[in-house]
This record gives sequence, structure tokens and C-alpha cells, in this order.
Amino acid sequence: MYYNEDCISGAQKHLKNDSIDLIISDPPYGIKGEKLDKHYNRDENNVLEGYIDVPAHEYSEFSMKWITEAERVLRPGGSIYIVSGYSHLRHILNALANTKLEEKNHIIWKYNFGVYTQKKYISSHYHILYCTKPGGAPTFNTNAFYADYEKCENGGSLNYQDREDVWIINREYKPGQVKNKNELPKSLLTKMILYSSKPDDMVCDFFLGSFSTAKVALALNRNACGFEINKNAFDYQIKEIEKIKSGELLSQMRQVSDNKLFNKGKPLSNEEKQQIISEFGLLRQKGLSQKSACDKLSENFGRGYWSIMKIVGNNNKYIENNVLTLFDMKQKTD
Ligand SMILES: C[S@@+](CC[C@H](N)C(=O)[O-])C[C@H]1O[C@@H](n2cnc3c(N)ncnc32)[C@H](O)[C@@H]1O
Repeated sequence: MYYNEDCISGAQKHLKNDSIDLIISDPPYGIKGEKLDKHYNRDENNVLEGYIDVPAHEYSEFSMKWITEAERVLRPGGSIYIVSGYSHLRHILNALANTKLEEKNHIIWKYNFGVYTQKKYISSHYHILYCTKPGGAPTFNTNAFYADYEKCENGGSLNYQDREDVWIINREYKPGQVKNKNELPKSLLTKMILYSSKPDDMVCDFFLGSFSTAKVALALNRNACGFEINKNAFDYQIKEIEKIKSGELLSQMRQVSDNKLFNKGKPLSNEEKQQIISEFGLLRQKGLSQKSACDKLSENFGRGYWSIMKIVGNNNKYIENNVLTLFDMKQKTD
């Protein structure tokens, strides 16, 4: 359900304790948002009228109130992502510190088209505070986008890169389309939703704006709810959201193939350890670098690259002195 109401009184009225799996919220910035367009140099005609900002002097109290509500409605183990600019970040951090929510990551979202300035650096990032509510198991789908074994061209782990806490995601350029001020890009929302929720979970946005969170949540086969106080935006978007088909984005998602680390976490027998050590010796003898040999063994033995490194690293001296020498001797006698 979506409500054309203030999110604080609206949440008190409509949302039960512990009922929401994931909250994604991008509160007004307290920087006279209704006047932002002259900075962004964009066509005001396509921006929905009536964006409601919060006066700077009320920001602290406002943050305290809505974040307290967010904590109440989140299920134990539920997650919350709060997008914030720099200006009032301290108030959001203070409000979070006043709750039991646990900060998991302070993410930096680097975007393109920052507000252009000449006499100082150009601001081109937002802060995203990712927290969970204690008392339950948080959903974190580690392989939402990449399996552990997937590598990029230079050999780095794609999974590792995707889970770093600096996200470089461009804003969407939507010439001629009706939008809200500060509309969040689909790929940013997709990332938060796929990592931190399951199909059919309830995703709530306290500041719907263009309903971007709700639209992406539905398109990923989740449920959605939230609040937007601006009647103009609400009336327009409530019709737009009808056009979203449940799960429609899923077919466009990259399919993550089964994790090939089939032995990850299983106990390592002495026999398997000896086998890894001896195969490592053979691969090195064939001229493979230490890294390529470990990659190959990770694939063959279904264990993580670093587990293999640990085994061969601890036995490296033995391998270099014995296995390789034995191999040489064997070749000589053959
Ligand atoms: C930064 S925008 C959110 C943009 C949204 N994430 C999107 O992608 O379109 C903040 C929104 O909160 C709305 N708003 C301001 N105060 C509110 C309140 N007390 N309750 C609900 N919505 C509010 C504003 O009208 C504005 O649309």
C-alpha cells in the first residue's frame, strides 16, 4: 500500500511493529530541495511540482522521528539503507546512534554529473548508510550478482569488486520524461534489493518521490509500500506504478551460475591436502605462476583460491625443495 501522507504519522497509523523486511529511503536533503534545479541545470518542465523539503533547523528532530519509526517497523534482522548528502549526514548518524540499529557499512555512492562548482571540488558522491536490526538473521545474498569464482579480465574477483563499499553508478539520463527531483537510478536500487531481500519480502520507502524503490521492488518480485507527502507526485506516480509487472526485471538480470566452490566449508582431509600440494608442484613445474596454479586448483578441488594459497603457502618450502626435485628426478629416470 502507498500513502499520500507524512511518513512519520503515516507509519504510526499504518505499519505494524516488525513487519518490514527492507527499508530503502532517500529523505529530503534539507537544502531547499525545491530550488535545486538551477544547480542541476535541467529542464524544470519535466520535474514534478511540489517536492517537499525539510527546513534545516528541523532536520535533526525530523531524522530522529522517522528513523525511530523505521526501527520499530523493521523486522528483527531486517535491513535499512539511508541515502544522504553531506549537509545533514551528522543528523542522520546521530539519529541512527540513538537506535539499536547496527551499522554494517557506510557506502559511498559515486555518481556522474555532480553539482558544478569552480572554486572548490565538485561534489559527486552520496553517503548510503546500511544497517540491520538486531534480534534476527539479516538477509545478505553474497552471490546476488557474482559467484565466488568469477573473475574479471585482470584476474580480480568480480564478487569482491561488486561488494566493495564504494559504488560507481551513474544517474539515469531521462530526456523528455517526467521525473522527481533526485530520482535514484534503477541499478542502485536493484543492487540494494537483490543483496538484502528475498522474493515476496516487503520493501518500504518512507520517501517514495517517483516511487522508484517501489517500482524496482515489484519488478524484482518483491512487495512494496511507502509514503509520499507531495500530492502532485503521488497522484501521478500511483498511476505509473500500475504499469509495472511483477518480476518483469528478473529476466534482464544476469544469471549467476552455480557456485563452483562445491567443497567450500567442508573439512579438508590429509589425503586431499597432499593431493593439492603435489598437483601444485606439478603445475609449477609445467611453468604456471603460483597464482595461475592456485586458480586451477581452486577450480579442480572446488575450494576457494585463498584456501588453496594457504595450503600451498604453508608448504611452499617443502614443495619447492621436494616435489619439484622429485619431479626432476622422475623425468631424468624416465
Ligand atoms: C529525495 S526525494 C526521494 C526521491 C526518491 N528516492 C526517487 O527516487 O524518486 C524525497 C521525497 O520525500 C518527500 N517528502 C518530504 N517530506 C516527507 C514526509 N514527511 N513524508 C513523506 N514524504 C516526504 C518529498 O516530497 C520528496 O519527494
